[in-house]
Amino acid sequence: MNYFNQLQTLLDASCAPYSGFNVASIVVLKDGRSFKGVNVESAAYSPTNCAERNAIQTAVTEGAKIGDLQEVHILARNAAKELVQAYPCGPCRQVIAEQALNDTVIYCYASEDKVDKHTIAELLPFGFLGAEL
Ligand code: THU
Repeated sequence: MNYFNQLQTLLDASCAPYSGFNVASIVVLKDGRSFKGVNVESAAYSPTNCAERNAIQTAVTEGAKIGDLQEVHILARNAAKELVQAYPCGPCRQVIAEQALNDTVIYCYASEDKVDKHTIAELLPFGFLGAEL
């Protein structure tokens, strides 16, 4: 199954009772392994976790190291159940950038045939990546 079809199925696992906005993400590591994540919302709002960060956290739990993240695939569906193209939020860009290399590619799907591809360096130029610490 291609990533778009897997993401479409994964959208049903999203827990978004407050926004109705479902997000699914699949991250792919350099070694070819892939990990899934969905957004999980909270009634207190701020504990909400994004799909991309949930996928990355699972990948790290399963052994991914800094620099292993090769691809991030994202699909979203609005409260009207229409597929919509979504880009990672600011905090997700930060976390992707810290686990990635500059050439890591983010795939944002509008449909099976229409996908925008950007490197993390394009989505987060001049990032704070911790070298200064
Ligand atoms: N969301 C994500 O899962 N990823 C993003 O990059 C943007 C936003 C989720 C958080 C919240 O559950 C819903 O989308 C609406 O903001």
